[in-house]
Amino acid sequence: MSQDATTKAADKSQHDAERRQFLTDMTTAFGVAGAACAAYPFVTSMNPSADVKAQATTEVDLSDLPAGKSKTILWRGKPVFIKHRTAEEIAEAREIDNDPEKLAALADPQKDTDRVVNENYLIVMAVCTHLGCVPMEGGNYDGWLCPCHGSQFDTSGRRRAGPAPANLEVPPYKFIADERILIG
Ligand code: FES
Repeated sequence: MSQDATTKAADKSQHDAERRQFLTDMTTAFGVAGAACAAYPFVTSMNPSADVKAQATTEVDLSDLPAGKSKTILWRGKPVFIKHRTAEEIAEAREIDNDPEKLAALADPQKDTDRVVNENYLIVMAVCTHLGCVPMEGGNYDGWLCPCHGSQFDTSGRRRAGPAPANLEVPPYKFIADERILIG
């Protein structure tokens, strides 16, 4: 083989090696990005579009919600829990209010009376304050349990266990009739 041909073969070999490395790098990068997306919290994928954001308020009828039941509605593209609390659930929440030591021991001390407008209804964002997953009903405190990393919330939506740093957020709302609220 001539000197020229040898040089060309070497160049081609190096080019092929660089191309293979580039493809490997891209595959790895997309693989990592894909895994990160899969692990991304559920509510982040529900970021509201501009037109949803524009709907700043949502009216909710509570007349179809008997004591002990809850429903989830969407406000500005994010889920909100509306719980019609039983007398026992209200009493559980108020027990903490009335015990200064237990109240002070909360990660995010807040009285139930400061979290509700009408004690019969708890209205909170259905977004875990840890990384944004949607909690489900249950747990050791008769409220909600986050399936992602195990945070638990009580019948006032207050953080009682797990990595969540704060209580479930209470959105702005008001009663516009006995059984009708306006969120936002
Ligand atoms: S997102 Fe709820 S505990 Fe982590």
